[in-house]
Amino acid sequence: MAGASGNRILVTGALGQIGTELVEALRLQHGKDAVVASDVRDLPDHSCVTGGPYRHLSVIDANGFDKVVREEEIGTVYHLAAILSATGEKKPELCERINVGGTITVLEAARKHRLRVYAPSSIAVFGPDAPKHAPQVCSLNPTTIYGKTKVTGERLAMNYWKQYGVDVRGIRYPGLISYRSPAGGGTTDYAVDIFHAALENGHYDCFVKAETRLPMMYMDDAIRATIALMDAPIDSIGSARGGYNISGISFTAGELADAVAARVPDFTCDFRPDVRQEYADSWPDSIDDSMAQSDWHWKADYDLNALCDAMISGLKG
Ligand code: NAD
Ligand code: SER
Repeated sequence: MAGASGNRILVTGALGQIGTELVEALRLQHGKDAVVASDVRDLPDHSCVTGGPYRHLSVIDANGFDKVVREEEIGTVYHLAAILSATGEKKPELCERINVGGTITVLEAARKHRLRVYAPSSIAVFGPDAPKHAPQVCSLNPTTIYGKTKVTGERLAMNYWKQYGVDVRGIRYPGLISYRSPAGGGTTDYAVDIFHAALENGHYDCFVKAETRLPMMYMDDAIRATIALMDAPIDSIGSARGGYNISGISFTAGELADAVAARVPDFTCDFRPDVRQEYADSWPDSIDDSMAQSDWHWKADYDLNALCDAMISGLKG
């Protein structure tokens, strides 16, 4: 295997909900020139583009990917480019092509150039037969296309580690809540959209039922977890390397609406479930993250109150 091309960091899908904040955190940690943001979109005013090096790059263009890795002297890839669950169910072929095809592009480049890789998974790997408090290890039988691509991603990560020694790590993110970038077409988007709607219109039509409970997390915790996992010594990373469970907060859509109403006078919320209810119902309520706790000392900081306060003060600027 060739030696690592270099020491710089490449982030794919950098203009999305997570990339927007991860790029900034990595640039603070390593220096702005050390982190190359990339995406298939071009948004010239985006903070990732104005704040440091940026490359237009599709993760299904293997030759283009290889070229960027060589030219930019990349040693580590944070691979965030993907199609999320709600868009994925509408465009299943695209979802498979980007999520599985893109991951193979990254892992093949990693094998060739000896790159370290972060490739996130999701709570969507669990299916309706999994325990509602989801353990790290159980049968993974997702019913969404998106969930199936994430199970494949975890399997690929383990294969490349076992067969080629590629140091790939991942987290099964819960639904992530942040104010700096819109959510990207997922089922958990209601937990972001509700804050925007509350402050803009005083009302939100929520697309899942009030009693729908899902695992969620504030973005600051997710970014901290991502960097902690990648900074952990290699011998602390165990059999969950392809997708560590991490737990943040578990709340129902009704509890979230009540917490928003307690902070936004006269806020009202109606619950009008659509097709995304089915995807939400197939996922767990909460997550057992004892393996992340013991392997790399994971612990979330934000509870529902802290999350709501941070969202509202962030959106009010
Ligand atoms: P997002 O939809 O906000 O961003 C994804 C980015 O990927 C977008 O900017 C998009 O332009 C880009 N992209 C799409 N196709 C591409 C291609 N062919 N080449 C390069 N870029 C492409 O998603 P996100 O919320 O930032 O999610 C990032 C990762 O985290 C994904 O793997 C997702 O499955 C996972 N995840 C996210 C959440 C969440 O709640 N946000 C939860 C679980 C897992
Ligand atoms: N938040 C993501 C979604 O809803 C879960 O991976 O698609």
